[in-house]
Amino acid sequence: MVFLTIGNQGWAEPSNNGLAVTFSSSGKSDTRILPNLWLFVPAGKASSPFVPAGEFTAHYQGHIIVDLRGDYTFQAELQGVLSLDINGATVLEATNSPTQPVIGKMVRLNKGTNSISAKFKSPDNGDAFFRVEWTPKGDQNTPIPLTSLTYEITPEISSGQRLLRGRELMVENRCLKCHTSAGTESGGMVELAYDAPSFDGIGSRRNFAWMRDWIIAPKKMRASARMPQVFHGAEAPEQAKAVAAYLSSLTTASVAPPEKVLSAEQIETGKTLFSNLHCDACHITPGVKETDPLRNPLPHVASKFANGQLANFLLQPDANYAWSRMPKYHLKPEEASQIADYLLSAATKPDALPTPTEAALITQGQKLVQTTGCLNCHSLKLENQFSTKTLVNLTNDQWKSGCVAATPESKAMNYNFSESDQLALKAFAESDRGSLQRHVGWEFSQRQQVTLKCVQCHGKFEGFPAFEIIGGKIKPEWSATFIAGDLSTKIRPWIESRMPAFKKPAEALAQGLAMQHGLPPKTPEEPAIDPELAKIGQQMVSTVGGFSCISCHAVNELGATQVFESAGINFAYTAARIQKSFFHRWVRNPLSIDPSTKMPVYFSTDDKSPLADVLDGDGPKTREAFWNYFRLGKKMPPPPLQP
Ligand code: HEC
Ligand code: HEC
Ligand code: HEC
Ligand code: HEC
Ligand code: HEC
Repeated sequence: MVFLTIGNQGWAEPSNNGLAVTFSSSGKSDTRILPNLWLFVPAGKASSPFVPAGEFTAHYQGHIIVDLRGDYTFQAELQGVLSLDINGATVLEATNSPTQPVIGKMVRLNKGTNSISAKFKSPDNGDAFFRVEWTPKGDQNTPIPLTSLTYEITPEISSGQRLLRGRELMVENRCLKCHTSAGTESGGMVELAYDAPSFDGIGSRRNFAWMRDWIIAPKKMRASARMPQVFHGAEAPEQAKAVAAYLSSLTTASVAPPEKVLSAEQIETGKTLFSNLHCDACHITPGVKETDPLRNPLPHVASKFANGQLANFLLQPDANYAWSRMPKYHLKPEEASQIADYLLSAATKPDALPTPTEAALITQGQKLVQTTGCLNCHSLKLENQFSTKTLVNLTNDQWKSGCVAATPESKAMNYNFSESDQLALKAFAESDRGSLQRHVGWEFSQRQQVTLKCVQCHGKFEGFPAFEIIGGKIKPEWSATFIAGDLSTKIRPWIESRMPAFKKPAEALAQGLAMQHGLPPKTPEEPAIDPELAKIGQQMVSTVGGFSCISCHAVNELGATQVFESAGINFAYTAARIQKSFFHRWVRNPLSIDPSTKMPVYFSTDDKSPLADVLDGDGPKTREAFWNYFRLGKKMPPPPLQP
């Protein structure tokens, strides 16, 4: 169920779930793929990367597929103007109705494929958004399942994806660190802030020979490397050696820990951790024969990391490189050293090569670091003497040469671009290039979830939460804290793995995920908690005259009473964690969201509660009572257990 897949180059390629959307603004247009009939564009922001900010229209096109012929109504909450056509007939027209859904005419969908077309126009002022749901006859309203929506790949989509790829290459490869551009400091793409590992004290962390080999050809060492090959020509090996010797001389006072003997037990524990934590989502497990270009192999760790430094790296991968794509697991120090010992035991033994210490070589290396562009990306307190053409001075005709060329001459960088990436960069060059200045929330999260391989875990391993619903389920504030790793508690203690932290992109990712689902990046305030309803909610979760929700769900310190059933999540987190709309949908019918969930369905198809004497057995009112109780969070009083 994906609308973008990870291609074998490691970047997003269209699959066929979702809808094709053409954004138009000020005479420019841009075609993208979105998962559903949803959108959120904050006031004053661009709707899509290649159209300017301001008034826009968005035209959604594709097909809706149903298994059986049946009658449906569509409804929308929105700020803006929407008209929705199914099989050529208009079934819903709505204008500015942000909190009360506008319900359209009943329409018959044919078994199989039905064409769908929706036109949305932004409102005169304020945030632009819309969220469409459907209601199969006699059922409840829900989002249209993602697998029911498909689009055809058109030339506009292909050229749009190529252009987007070109823009991505510009930031991922840090082209603007050298070819600078005015106005990229704020409000632009988040990735313009990308850094590179700091050179401060690097000689204490990394070994000489590995650095030399890396500098000669970074992409040979790791296919997904972003660093270009700086040196080419006959002198390259000597230059790399001098630079590595210089970097090796940049040591800090810390003393390397003593060589230790690896115990078989320690190694075995490390191996188990590697497997339980699903490091294999992004790395090839040592000893496993596999050449998946998406996974980084790790046989070189003994050559790369100075003594004791691998464990330090695992503890804090972002210590010297804030935007490292390697996430942080909050390992305990002993866990880090167990994994390190395991990886070292399986690694290739390094050549025992002494680090050169000749002063002349080191001086030559320092000069090269100052004059060849290293310091445009890497930080070090040392004067940078390198400069090159600014972005505006790279005219369109030049985008076959220099750093874009297959074999760059003179001082240009060698990125080893494939032919399709060269075309993508050329397409970017020929655009107005203003897209670098446009951060588009939903688009950022779409791209980053591929770059950071979120879906190599989510959707791959059993029991992990489904990814494609996260944006409509989790509040962006909570999601940001969780993705950043700032939450000390595990939400699902029964999962052996854990969600690793991606600190830097967390906030923009969380907001983008919500916006992709048509929800605001900041959750609106709710009215004060109703203490009467909260009291009813407290009674209803209990085993005494209630629904016995607590047989599976904990309430703060009160553990679930029958965890062997199928553990649910502690209710103390619920209101801070999940969107109210999702809460209602889930509790009304959890099976409609997760057909394999063990949580029972309590409410009837006409939305009546089985407790007819509480709140008139009214479904929505009953759920509001739960919700008001859950909103007490850490202050929730425990439910009664005995009459
Ligand atoms: C470390 C600095 C650096 C980075 C990073 C860098 N370049 Fe360059 N680029 C250069 C240098 C040096 C030249 C050669 C021109 C010169 O001597 O100033 C060059 C030349 C070029 C040229 C040809 C200009 C001409 O005169 O023909 C293009 C196009 C170009 N770069 C595009 C890119 C792109 C695209 C990226 C990112 C994928 C990139 N560069 C990244 C330093 C850099
Ligand atoms: C979501 C993907 C992802 C997961 C999960 C992940 N890593 Fe990584 N890891 C990376 C990436 C990407 C790099 C390359 C560093 C970079 O780009 O900054 C990396 C780098 C590393 C390196 C350094 C290798 C080098 O050449 O620099 C080690 C060692 C490592 N990871 C071990 C682990 C271990 C152990 C785990 C599990 C506890 C793990 N990784 C989980 C993505 C991941
Ligand atoms: C365009 C930006 C850029 C330029 C120019 C650049 N690097 Fe890098 N370098 C990176 C990035 C980003 C990484 C992190 C790994 C990756 O994804 O490529 C890196 C990694 C490294 C590492 C490995 C650090 C570690 O701990 O893993 C070394 C050593 C290094 N660079 C040295 C150099 C030297 C020396 C130069 C100049 C000759 C240079 N780099 C030029 C961006 C750059
Ligand atoms: C190494 C595997 C792994 C990777 C990679 C990963 N996750 Fe997770 N994620 C998990 C696990 C396990 C959980 C459940 C944790 C829990 O409930 O305690 C989780 C939970 C979440 C949640 C909470 C969802 C819920 O229903 O509770 C969010 C949000 C999330 N991940 C976002 C992301 C994003 C965004 C990325 C990519 C940047 C990502 N994850 C990458 C393993 C992973
Ligand atoms: C048989 C066990 C069971 C019972 C009884 C049960 N649930 Fe659940 N509940 C679950 C499971 C399993 C999940 C999904 C957990 C996950 O996402 O991993 C869940 C999830 C939830 C969630 C989403 C929580 C979140 O933070 O993601 C809510 C809200 C919820 N249940 C409410 C209720 C209410 C209210 C009742 C009683 C009317 C109830 N549950 C009874 C098993 C149960």
